[in-house]
Amino acid sequence: MNILITAGGTREYIDPVRFITNASSGKMGYALARAAIRAGHKVILITAPTKLRKPTEAKIVEVKTSAQMFDAVKKHFPKSKCLIMAAAVSDYKPAKQSKTKIKKTAAELIIKLKPTQDILKWAGGHKKKNQVLVGFALEDKDLKTNSEIKLRNKKLDMVIANQPTAIEANKSTVHIKTKDTGWVTLSNKSKAMTAKKIIQLAEKL
Ligand code: CTP
Repeated sequence: MNILITAGGTREYIDPVRFITNASSGKMGYALARAAIRAGHKVILITAPTKLRKPTEAKIVEVKTSAQMFDAVKKHFPKSKCLIMAAAVSDYKPAKQSKTKIKKTAAELIIKLKPTQDILKWAGGHKKKNQVLVGFALEDKDLKTNSEIKLRNKKLDMVIANQPTAIEANKSTVHIKTKDTGWVTLSNKSKAMTAKKIIQLAEKL
């Protein structure tokens, strides 16, 4: 399969040197890329900045902002059999980006934010019948209920639910649900093990 994977936390620039981001390390997305390659798939990895070594056999598309990630997904999604959105895409970005570095003053600085494009939701609305869409849900309460809402609202084929403690961790507990089956829990597994399982489930879908 041609598998498109996104990874890392996007940067939303306030000015040329400052940005809003999140604690995503990119480990899950990179583990997915490696697992998919090992299983014989062709992988395009769209990655926001991370400190990780890039998987050599994947085609790498480097992006910084959610807007750039959206453009890259729009470009590669039509030819992909499966899209796995492991990236932590910022939900908001500064309403205005200053072209020059913002100068310090004594006054309070208020930054107005506006919503970004929900890339996964866009993909759910544009997927062809034979395309498989996989999303993540990071929730600190009502984990399974909220994740099932995301599965339905974003028209996903599979959702991987996890908690904020999974961010940056090497091992994590995740709950996986495909649209037609019940929940499967992987307890305290390495991201490599979890990635292998997700790829196997995507193959079945
Ligand atoms: N996602 C996306 N585009 C966004 C935000 C999120 O494609 N602008 C994707 C993520 O890659 C992930 C999924 O949507 O696969 C769920 O992300 P999450 O942050 O858990 O949920 P949100 O949909 O942003 O909702 P909320 O923050 O309200 O829980």
